[in-house]
Amino acid sequence: MSALLLSGRDAAAKILGELKPKITKIDPKLVVVQVGDDPGSASYIKQKIKSCGEVGMRSEHRHLKADTTLSELLKTVAELNSDTDVTGFIVQLPLPDHLQDHVPEVIRAIDPKKDVDGFGAYNLGKVFLSKEFEHLPPATPAGIIMLLEHYKISVAGKHAVIVGRSNIVGKPLSVMLLNRDATVTVCHSKTKDLPAITKQADILIAAVGKPKMITADMVKKGAVVIDVGTSRVDGKLTGDVDFDAVSTIASAITPVPGGVGPMTVCSLIRNCVRAKERQTEKS
Ligand code: GUN
Repeated sequence: MSALLLSGRDAAAKILGELKPKITKIDPKLVVVQVGDDPGSASYIKQKIKSCGEVGMRSEHRHLKADTTLSELLKTVAELNSDTDVTGFIVQLPLPDHLQDHVPEVIRAIDPKKDVDGFGAYNLGKVFLSKEFEHLPPATPAGIIMLLEHYKISVAGKHAVIVGRSNIVGKPLSVMLLNRDATVTVCHSKTKDLPAITKQADILIAAVGKPKMITADMVKKGAVVIDVGTSRVDGKLTGDVDFDAVSTIASAITPVPGGVGPMTVCSLIRNCVRAKERQTEKS
């Protein structure tokens, strides 16, 4: 391997260390709502709660049963909206099958001031205005930006190619990179000749959820490669990038696990701090 390893663990530890005094001072609280028992969600939530503990931030895990109805979930959201002790909360996705079609309704019910996932239209809309308006940006795209900044990888003038157009990663990340003067291409399942496009990338971001789909022949020599994938293959967390082969070509690459994952948690905590500051300012 010749590529620089972009460690989200190291970057997050440094950023969270810097946030710690502020957290001690303003004492924010995060609530994570889980509905049902999706195994992936369980491990992400465990990580979120653990990281809050490490940085001295109050957190609560509200675990609702798998057959929770939409109106019960919306009641929980309403309670959290009006609980002044709760700074911010997230509803972990995916929801159980019977609620999955109602995700937009659930997100819409979250008070934008407490939407620390940054998934709602208000916070996403602000991301579209400019970098200066990115107050509560979606956690994973914001984590990727922080990781690039930590390693002093500039994006201005670079060609960033994003594979995947989800509302929580690909789409908002494309705008956040554009806000930083990158030239951005977003690819998806209907894109023709994907390798021809990924090969043009100075910065390649894979956020699809297909294990090892980005192979060495799809990467330009010296590219920076960011892997957002977290599929479970034989019980092992596996990214969207064929790490062993691609790391011989890339100039820098994120591992899975230990790359983007810790940065997502880090930006969630940063959003809680920002939300608390704004709530205190306004009261
Ligand atoms: N599921 C996968 N990633 C996320 C995330 O960042 N937030 C929420 N709420 N659910 C997720």
